[in-house]
Amino acid sequence: MSKENQLQVEAIKQGSVIDHIPAHAGIKVLRLFELHKTQNKVTIGLNLPSSALGHKDLIKIENVFIDEDLANQLALLAPNATVNQIEDYEVVKKLQLNLPQRVDRVFQCPNSNCITRTEPVASSFTVVSKGDAIKLKCKYCEKAFNRDSVAELR
Ligand code: CTP
Ligand code: ZN
Repeated sequence: MSKENQLQVEAIKQGSVIDHIPAHAGIKVLRLFELHKTQNKVTIGLNLPSSALGHKDLIKIENVFIDEDLANQLALLAPNATVNQIEDYEVVKKLQLNLPQRVDRVFQCPNSNCITRTEPVASSFTVVSKGDAIKLKCKYCEKAFNRDSVAELR
């Protein structure tokens, strides 16, 4: 393999690769979904050159297979990401992400009067999307917020 074609982040033997994350969203994806809270090796690439995106972020987690449910939750922050499953160094599955209908526990409700802000109840939002705009509607206070205003809180 020529130097030009070498991977920018070392190949993994087994596990998951979240590719095509928008540049600058990788850290947020890692943190909100707590992908680093594992005993397994996690490698990340930030601001990598990408022919499709210009720049992208990428996360590789060894020995963990991201299931369809979690993959779809990732679409809330990285709608065009691809989740690859790797076995014996080969890509055996490529999940295309679809927005989930709801997201629990991941975000905090921006409404400071919301019961989820004072009581120990897990947050829960319904996902409403119109075209490119994603809104999250809190199950408890029933207010709807732009995805970005919810995502920036944590
Ligand atoms: N990958 C890896 N370890 C492997 C095999 C693949 O880390 N043993 C990574 C690649 O670096 C890439 C992703 O998994 O980031 C998907 O691999 P592949 O499908 O071979 O790459 P592309 O064809 O570029 O993927 P796409 O078409 O989704 O852009
Ligand atoms: Zn609320």
